[in-house]
Amino acid sequence: MRILSGIQPSGTPHLGNYFGMMKPAIELQERGEAFYFIADLHALTTVRDAGVLRDNVRNLALDFLACGLDPAKAVFFRQSDVPQVAELAWILSTVTPMGLLERCHSFKDKMARGLPASHGLFSYPVLMAADILLYDSDLVPVGKDQKQHLEVTRDIAAKVNEIYGEVFKLPEPCIREDGAVVPGVDGAKMSKSYENTIEMFAPEKALRKKVMGIKTDSTPVEEPKPVEGSVILDLYKLVASPSEVGAMIEGFQAGGTGYGDFKKRLFDAVWSHFEPMRRRREELAADPGYVDKVLAEGAGRALEAAEKVIDRVRRAVGLR
Ligand code: ADP
Ligand code: TRP
Repeated sequence: MRILSGIQPSGTPHLGNYFGMMKPAIELQERGEAFYFIADLHALTTVRDAGVLRDNVRNLALDFLACGLDPAKAVFFRQSDVPQVAELAWILSTVTPMGLLERCHSFKDKMARGLPASHGLFSYPVLMAADILLYDSDLVPVGKDQKQHLEVTRDIAAKVNEIYGEVFKLPEPCIREDGAVVPGVDGAKMSKSYENTIEMFAPEKALRKKVMGIKTDSTPVEEPKPVEGSVILDLYKLVASPSEVGAMIEGFQAGGTGYGDFKKRLFDAVWSHFEPMRRRREELAADPGYVDKVLAEGAGRALEAAEKVIDRVRRAVGLR
């Protein structure tokens, strides 16, 4: 079984990225042949500073490796190291109906936020389809927000098969519907675009500030606090043991403890949850050649897999 997923180097990864995408992907590397990549071509739609993009790629690679991505188990590579993906995206774009892309929420959301409507932003899902189809992927673990992009991928693949015969296998999404959305400090979905993120590898002071800044209601200290919909509790559940969570729920219900105390407990739990990964990250970062070496090896293996598929596609459409 081939598992594939990608993440954009468009900023610093946060708890939403970790629990929604990175952690499930790392768990899945045990269950099949995993291909994970850094979507730098996609990031060009929003990052317009070459130095920032380079730094983001290196930092994201370190983050992912520190969190447990094992290059001995998963092929870990940079999207742009396999230029065949751009060729495939072009071929796919020739059969992709405009209407399919016009319906995509992510494009509409970005327009609504006032981002300039570039062609790259519009055709983003075609490049994503190419990412997935170029590696004959079976399973694609992503957060809920990517569900529509996977449907688009399947539609495009089916269209190619309809026109040219059985070229692609249709990938299955792997979306954890259960509480898959990690809330940000304001209670909305945690996202780089909403400035409500908590970065797991932020320095201690900055991380504490983020956690202490979580918005809460104005229940007085002595009164019981609502458990339902509490961002503090929802985040605590991700990083604390069941008994610690039980104790915090009791604390909420009993009254007599202020939100500040619960936030301190949450900070401690986040800090210690990521402690081993933070240490690992420091070790990996100390070896200047490590990331380049891992990504170069990954690129070699990814190229090999991609060559087979692109060759099949070129023949099917008549380019060879
Ligand atoms: P952002 O919204 O911060 O820009 P991305 O769109 O780059 O994040 O998402 C990268 C991956 O992380 C995707 O698979 C996405 O589904 C997942 N993800 C992002 N935010 C969350 C969240 N708050 N909860 C769960 N998963 C998330
Ligand atoms: N669009 C995805 C995101 O923003 C990243 C991505 C690009 C991806 N290509 C992919 C995810 C292929 C899975 C498979 O999160």
